[in-house]
Amino acid sequence: MNTNQEKHKVEGERQPKDQTKLRTSRWLWLRRSPALLDPLRRLFEDPKRLIEPYVKDGQVVADLGCGSGYYTLALAELVGSAGKIYAIDLDEKAIRALAKKAEKGGYRNIEAQAVSAANVSFIKDKSVDFVLANGLLCSMASNRQSAVKEIKRILKSTGKAYISLGFGPPLGFVDEAEWETILEGFRVEHGGSYKEKWAVVSLKKE
Ligand SMILES: C[S@@+](CC[C@H](N)C(=O)[O-])C[C@H]1O[C@@H](n2cnc3c(N)ncnc32)[C@H](O)[C@@H]1O
Repeated sequence: MNTNQEKHKVEGERQPKDQTKLRTSRWLWLRRSPALLDPLRRLFEDPKRLIEPYVKDGQVVADLGCGSGYYTLALAELVGSAGKIYAIDLDEKAIRALAKKAEKGGYRNIEAQAVSAANVSFIKDKSVDFVLANGLLCSMASNRQSAVKEIKRILKSTGKAYISLGFGPPLGFVDEAEWETILEGFRVEHGGSYKEKWAVVSLKKE
């Protein structure tokens, strides 16, 4: 795995082994469907279709809360060999699975790190064209504000972020008031209603 893991641990962040609540199942805790269901997921959620309008050849992308890479490989194909994908997830097992898939598929433009999205200080300020945070914030029991701050820090002034919630409470951690507060910090370009639970955002002009 990577050496950044310890350096980027976030104070108080719940690690997979420390789970104290929501013990019903690992999948519920991770709020992520098992990777073995990916072929089924593809039938109703085509990863390329969602991201294609926002990602171009040669761009730098951060897939925050990437899981085992459902979107990461599609992103890597879209940015091509001149581009780069930072694939970030707190779950070491998911990152290991992604690294294995990337190696097997010959993807050399993916940097996968098992760290928190609340601290991605190894990604430079204003260096990312597109952030994908699909189902990330609703899965974070704590430090969501720091993750949002990191999205703002790493995005280029021309960059965009796709932010979505899988579920609201009690399955997810972000309620309507928090969703609205998060979006108030950005310029909302598409989506944005709590009912839809997704938005494409960019930075507010300074
Ligand atoms: C609903 S899943 C979405 C996975 C992926 N984006 C997708 O669309 O298939 C949420 C992911 O966020 C990860 N996660 C939860 N807290 C995190 C944190 N603090 N930093 C990075 N990833 C986190 C979980 O491990 C899980 O893989």
